[in-house]
Amino acid sequence: MSPQIFKAAACSSDAALPGLAVSVLALSLIAPARAAADPFPEGPGKAVFIKVCTQCHAAEPIAILRRSKDEWKDLVYNMKGMGAEATDEECNVIIDYLAKNFGKKEEQK
Ligand code: HEC
Repeated sequence: MSPQIFKAAACSSDAALPGLAVSVLALSLIAPARAAADPFPEGPGKAVFIKVCTQCHAAEPIAILRRSKDEWKDLVYNMKGMGAEATDEECNVIIDYLAKNFGKKEEQK
């Protein structure tokens, strides 16, 4: 996706740059683009979700998923089982946030 596109553009525009400079340049291009396109709607639970669900991996790929509330519940407790630091209350807040914003279409009606 976009990281490769940015990197390819950085490489071809100045092939003489050393590898490190190219990747630093690529990162500086990606960072503002990501901030501008926050895929997570504002709402109750967002802050807890970001806090807990970025402990081990990026949150962005989660935004393309659509799952039922039960499926989100399984996933969140799965992550907790792997070591996510969150209280049961925080897990419930996250499950509600995900089910509301990234639920299955028929459940959101
Ligand atoms: C303790 C580290 C850790 C935390 C914290 C964590 N994850 Fe994960 N997550 C992983 C690992 C490791 C994988 C890949 C292994 C796997 O797929 O089971 C993964 C994979 C995933 C996947 C893809 C796998 C699938 O079943 O579709 C999703 C979605 C996901 N995490 C969502 C979340 C959410 C939502 C949270 C916040 C509740 C979260 N993660 C917090 C470690 C973590």
